[in-house]
Amino acid sequence: MSPHQSKLSFPPDGACRVLFLDEAMRTCAIPVYGCAQGCFYSGMTDTYTDLAPNGRVHRRVYTDPDVFAAEMERIFRRAWVYIAHESQLTEPGDFVTAHIGDRPVIVSRHSDGEIYAFANRCTHRGMKVCAARQGSKKRFICPYHGWAFATDGTLIGIPHGKGYNGKIDPKDPDLALARVARVESYRGFVFASDTSDGPTLTEYLGPMTRAIDNTVDRAPGGEIEIAGGGFRQRYMGNWKLHMENANDLMHASIVHASSVDSAQAVADELEDGAEDHALQMFKGNGLPLSAMDQVEIHGFPGGHSYMGGFYKEGSITQTTSDDPVVSAYRSAMIENYGENRAEDIMGWDTFNHLIYPNLILNPKHQQMRVLQPVDVDCTIVHSACFRLKGAPEDMYQRSIRFLNALNSPASQITTDDIAMFNNIQNALGEADTDWVDLSRGLGHDKTHDDGGEIGEVGTSELPLRAQYAAWRDFMGKKAE
Ligand code: FES
Ligand code: FE
Repeated sequence: MSPHQSKLSFPPDGACRVLFLDEAMRTCAIPVYGCAQGCFYSGMTDTYTDLAPNGRVHRRVYTDPDVFAAEMERIFRRAWVYIAHESQLTEPGDFVTAHIGDRPVIVSRHSDGEIYAFANRCTHRGMKVCAARQGSKKRFICPYHGWAFATDGTLIGIPHGKGYNGKIDPKDPDLALARVARVESYRGFVFASDTSDGPTLTEYLGPMTRAIDNTVDRAPGGEIEIAGGGFRQRYMGNWKLHMENANDLMHASIVHASSVDSAQAVADELEDGAEDHALQMFKGNGLPLSAMDQVEIHGFPGGHSYMGGFYKEGSITQTTSDDPVVSAYRSAMIENYGENRAEDIMGWDTFNHLIYPNLILNPKHQQMRVLQPVDVDCTIVHSACFRLKGAPEDMYQRSIRFLNALNSPASQITTDDIAMFNNIQNALGEADTDWVDLSRGLGHDKTHDDGGEIGEVGTSELPLRAQYAAWRDFMGKKAE
C-alpha cells in the first residue's frame, strides 16, 4: 500500500472486501461501520464524484452495489430515459413493458390518446401486473388476485371487494399504479423522466435531436416503425461497460480480429462486388488504427456522443451507384425531399449515437439498442431495427441482416464485446489495481461549434469522459 492510500472495507454483512482509496476519499465517509476484521467502511457517500475524476474511474463504480443503487436513483430517475417508440403504441390500449433503470414500468396509450408510464407493480401485494413485452389490452388485470387497472394505471376494480368492509376506496390515488412524473415524445421516440422539474426532453437531448431527426428523415415517407421482433442479450457486467464500448474506435480491430481475418479470407475467394453486407461489416472493423484516427468522434454535455461512419467500401456505405437497392432508395428519397435535401440526409455518415444513459441509435443502418441495467454486474441489451416507410422493402431486409450480424446473440461481433464485458467485470472484482484509465486524448479534445467537443483523433476516449462528466453531475446530487 502506498503512503497516500488508506484501507477501507465493506461491512456490516461481515464479508469484508478491502478497497484501497486515495486519502482524499476518506472525506466522503458518512456512516462509518466497523467489521469483524477491524476494517471500516465509508458507507453511502454524499457525492460519489471522487470515484470518477476526469480521465479515470475507480473500480467501485462498476462493482459496488451501493453505487449501482445510487445510479438508479440519481441518474435513471432524473434523466430522460428512452422507454418506447410510438409505432408500438398507435391505438388506445397498445402497450409495451420497459424499464427505467432497474424499475419495471408499463408504457401505454390510454383512451384519451395520451401515453402514460406507470409502475409494473401491483398496489395490492406487489405482483408484476403485466408479464407480456408488448400488446394491446382494454385493462391490466393483476394475475395474483385480479385487481384491475385502466390503461392509465388507475385502479378500476377489486374482486370480492366487500371483504375490505368499506375500508379501501378503489378511487384512492395511492392505489393507482405509480405514475412516472413526465413522459414526452420526440419524433416518435418516447422518453420518461421521474422528476417533475428539470429540462424538457428537447433541452435534454440538445444536439442529439439531430440523430433522431436523421433516423426519421431517412424514411422517404417521413415515418419509421419498429417492425417484427428484436433481440435481448444478457451479459454479466455493469451497464456502463456497454456505453463505453459503443463509441470506442480503439478496440474494433483488436477485439474483433478473428471475424476480420475470417471475412478477409472469404472475400479473397470472391469476385469483386460479390461481398454481402455481413462480410463488409466484419472487414470494416479491421480498418487500421491510423484510419480509425481519421473518423470524427464527438462528445457533448449530458453524456451524449457519436462517431463518424467507418465503412469505406461496398454497398454498405450507401454511396455506390451500381447497387440496385441503394439506387431505388435514393430515387424514393429524391422524389420526396428533392435532390439537395435527400443528399443532406443520406450523406450524414455516422455510427452509434449515444443518448445518455440508455439509448444507442444508428440512423444510417436503422438500428437501435436499449440498455436495461439489472444489477451492478448484470445488464440486458435490447436491440431492434426500423422500417423506413416509403423505402424499398429490401432496405428493411438489409437492416434485419445488419441486426443479425452486429447486434444479435448470433453475431460474431457483439459476442466478442460481451466476452470483454464479462471478463472486465470479473477482474474489477479483484483489488489488484483500483483505477481504470480513460485518458487517451485527454487535453487534446477541441471545442466544436455543435455545442460539444471533438476528439483530436478518432481513438480519443472523449465519449467516455463525456459520459463520466454527466455521471458526476447526476451522482453529485442526492435524491430528494
Ligand atoms: Fe395484485 Fe394481489 S398482488 S391483485
Ligand atoms: Fe465492438
